[in-house]
Amino acid sequence: MSKKRHEELKKIIAKHDYNYYVLDRPEIEDYDYDKLYAELVELEKADKSLDLSDSPSQRVGGKPLDIFEKAPHRLPMLSLANSYSPEDIFDFDERVRKFLKTDKQIEYLCELKFDGLSMELIYENGQFTRALTRGDGTVGEDVTHNIKTIRSIPLKLGMKKPPSLLEVRGEVLIFKQDFAKLNETQQENGQQTFANPRNAAAGTVRQLDPRIAASRPLRFLGYALGATEGLTFTTQYEIEEYFAEHGIPTAINMDKELVAICKGPEEVVEYYHRVEKLRPSLPFDIDGIVIKVNSLHTQDDLGLVARSPRWATAAKFKPQQAETLIENIHVQVGRTGALTPVAIMKPVKVGGVTVTNATLHNQDEINRKDVRIGDTVIIQRAGDVIPEVVSVVMEKRPKNSKAFLIPSECPACGSPVVKVEGEVVTRCVNPLCIAMVKESLKHFVARRAMNIDKVGDRLIETLVDHKLLKSFSDFYRLKKEDILSLDRQGEKSAENVIKSIENSKKPGLGRFIFALGIRFVGEQTAKHLADHFGTIERFLQATDEDLLQVPEIGPKVLKTIRDWISNPILVQEVHDMLKLGVTISGPARAQEGSLSGKSFLITGTLPVKRDDAKDLIEKNGGKILGSVSAKLNYLVVGDDPGSKVEKAQSLGVTIISWEELQKLIG
Ligand code: IVH
Repeated sequence: MSKKRHEELKKIIAKHDYNYYVLDRPEIEDYDYDKLYAELVELEKADKSLDLSDSPSQRVGGKPLDIFEKAPHRLPMLSLANSYSPEDIFDFDERVRKFLKTDKQIEYLCELKFDGLSMELIYENGQFTRALTRGDGTVGEDVTHNIKTIRSIPLKLGMKKPPSLLEVRGEVLIFKQDFAKLNETQQENGQQTFANPRNAAAGTVRQLDPRIAASRPLRFLGYALGATEGLTFTTQYEIEEYFAEHGIPTAINMDKELVAICKGPEEVVEYYHRVEKLRPSLPFDIDGIVIKVNSLHTQDDLGLVARSPRWATAAKFKPQQAETLIENIHVQVGRTGALTPVAIMKPVKVGGVTVTNATLHNQDEINRKDVRIGDTVIIQRAGDVIPEVVSVVMEKRPKNSKAFLIPSECPACGSPVVKVEGEVVTRCVNPLCIAMVKESLKHFVARRAMNIDKVGDRLIETLVDHKLLKSFSDFYRLKKEDILSLDRQGEKSAENVIKSIENSKKPGLGRFIFALGIRFVGEQTAKHLADHFGTIERFLQATDEDLLQVPEIGPKVLKTIRDWISNPILVQEVHDMLKLGVTISGPARAQEGSLSGKSFLITGTLPVKRDDAKDLIEKNGGKILGSVSAKLNYLVVGDDPGSKVEKAQSLGVTIISWEELQKLIG
């Protein structure tokens, strides 16, 4: 009995994983999914004879490996010839036709060149058995333990009579949005941030401990065939269609238009330009397109040169890079005391945007790239990510330059800094450090925190320097005269400042907790805390047991919250604010409301501020999503909307106006 239910559960969960991770179209709530999963785990605990080989429970990451095993590829994994301009597409086409001695038009399959790392997935009799990196093309490394954690990869192929062997080649990558979140978490946890999604994906695949991979948002997209037994295809397109039909994620599943069959080089060039325009709006990084002769028979005729096929090529997009000079390196002190070196550069345009500074992350990064003041460097913007220094142009280095060292004393308060074992970050640990105080106050007034919009960074700096502000509660003690006593502050602006402070006095509990700036307590965790405790008093009196019941709270966050709420000075701050008229309302996100269970995304300009609209949606139980996908229920459209509308239309997402949203709320 338990065997039958176990087989059933494995199938049901695999189907929901596919809906969620491949189609981006979940059919059940997280809660119900978790219930199914819990049932599966229970069964497996109770009955040790069950077949776990294709069980989703195997994805969580088992024991760490000691080393990576090497294994040969049945067929070599080739690389592609590159070119950087659309004109080269004509040369490629000419070479192909010359080799084939034909004047006939060639049919090409064109697709995206994913910017990740290549991977081979091996399925034997329908069962996923192994994943190999490309390695040197002949021998790869066995990274099955990490690749198994990728939920969009089926552990079993969904077909009645699977082929005895199927090798799927494709790219492992991290989507842009997942990447931004990953870096945020890394930063909050004092761990190294990644320069771009590809580095993050590569670094993750190369971990011996699969639990790390399980905690990171890896994805896979298939695009080519390795060795097979018992399968025949006639075109490249058929191969990818076959993947898509049998549960292996491909670009085709996401949007059929991303792959095109092009007749002759002109159509390929059209595709190139179309994709180049699409590039910023894609959910993942690409660095060009790949052009493959569609007929497999013709591919065979063409064969290889060196390690690249004659039947395929990559046309890359011009990199968004530029050369400039580092005029200085500033060391900034963040809210948590982290010292971040920032390169101040001669302004330069990269991909249409003028860039003047770039993060150097930390001392390890500076050492690795050997970046110095006075250096000429290559900088780049990868996707939507902040600019960063790629490399130093050594020939242009001035003779007398010196290696850059983060100071051993905090540049803001002069106290000695520390570097904790195992952390890459150098920190100032003086809780009264003026930079940390200023940053905490800036965080407090931020839009997503207390939203004191008329108090900007500059005003905070001035107020602190004039000793008119040293803690959160001081905001509520400020008088118009205080503001007027500062340089360049007129009657009207002073009034506006006081008014905007006054307007901040009714925060939701989640916002308020977030505003306190407790280390590791981001917006999401703050919301969880608010939902759990309901009032600020209960939060301040929380025991460790209480706290551990809150989603996403582990030992590390527990400790920082514990330190915060056991600090009498900080708790007094909260009480002072309450005395000064701050009244905190219950959790911001309503559990039940007219919008509950529905997801929303806003595009274009609405009659109210974007954040206010988001709050309104959440207050009524709705959820805000980050991008248009089939998961989205409603796209709320204001004036001058962007490309999101078209995408939503193509996915059948309901499009509504601000007025219609208000009607929904009722
Ligand atoms: S086909 C024989 N298709 O680009 C050609 N490769 O140097 C096999 N890549 O190592 C590759 N997107 O990691 C192919 N749609 C795509 C690709 C793609 C990215 C990578 C792959 C390969 C490199 C080519």
